[in-house]
Amino acid sequence: MNFIENIDYTTKIVGIIGHPIKHSFSPRMHNLTFQSQGLNYIYLPFDVPPSQLGESLKAMGTLGIRGLNVTLPHKEKIIQYMDHVSEEASTVGAVNTVVNEGNQLFGYNTDVNGIVESLFPYKEDLIKSTVTVIGAGGAARGVLYSLIRNFKVSKINIVNRTEERSESLKDYFKDKMHFDNIATYEMMPRENLELYKSSKLIVNTTSVGLFPNTDDSPTDLAESFNSSQIVFDLIYNPLKTKFIELAESQGATVINGLKMFIVQGARSFELWTGNKMDIDSMSKEISDLLV
Ligand code: ATR
Repeated sequence: MNFIENIDYTTKIVGIIGHPIKHSFSPRMHNLTFQSQGLNYIYLPFDVPPSQLGESLKAMGTLGIRGLNVTLPHKEKIIQYMDHVSEEASTVGAVNTVVNEGNQLFGYNTDVNGIVESLFPYKEDLIKSTVTVIGAGGAARGVLYSLIRNFKVSKINIVNRTEERSESLKDYFKDKMHFDNIATYEMMPRENLELYKSSKLIVNTTSVGLFPNTDDSPTDLAESFNSSQIVFDLIYNPLKTKFIELAESQGATVINGLKMFIVQGARSFELWTGNKMDIDSMSKEISDLLV
């Protein structure tokens, strides 16, 4: 029986809420896995404006929707509607996965799992290191949390277009995690050069370089990078951003956002279904769709 013929009164609904709902590979990732594992679930996109967020979560209970992924702009605001929030999601201050357990809503942050698994092979290099995080939005929060909690870095530079936002992130982590070795800088590639050069790890958490703006990069100076660095771009579309390309040209170890994307999805999938997703075959599936 094909996927559509399977849909009946026992089908469990999961999905993604955001506004606007941008092109996302999540429906494909989850629906393919439901199908390959013979699970009677369906994953749908829900475009919910901020004014309707509370109502839509009430409807989640009424309609018996099993779970949601949460994307822009709801990741932070949604916390107030949760009955329970995991330690990670609460410290990060953002929820990207909701599980409906008997009409009780549980909030998790599986982005953190994706970040930790992407950086795990470099753990020894990162302990006590100086790192630079570009961006100060929701994604940067997850990165800061993991760098402090899981990789025990000693110093974090935040580079962001709007300095007030990095200042507030700095204050937030000082308060929540008692980490006070954070310095903030305005995004100015030439002025940021020494910061980049002196960092063991540089992470781009902004959308600069995301398809279709593939000629953009948070820095276009190749001399920002060197061969002893690890350079991580959270973007997975394209797989090789200009930022990654520049870093690679200088011999840096590079990591794109594909693993993070797949691992966060696999962890959400596990929270909803109790089943594991095959990460390697899904990575291949999604990378074949990308360039
Ligand atoms: P996310 O949850 O994906 O992190 P977000 O909270 O909207 O999304 O944060 C986006 C980040 O990308 C911010 O750091 C933003 O910079 P500002 O704080 O100055 O808004 C950064 N960003 C987005 N577009 C950018 C651009 N064109 N140039 C520089 N930074 C940009």
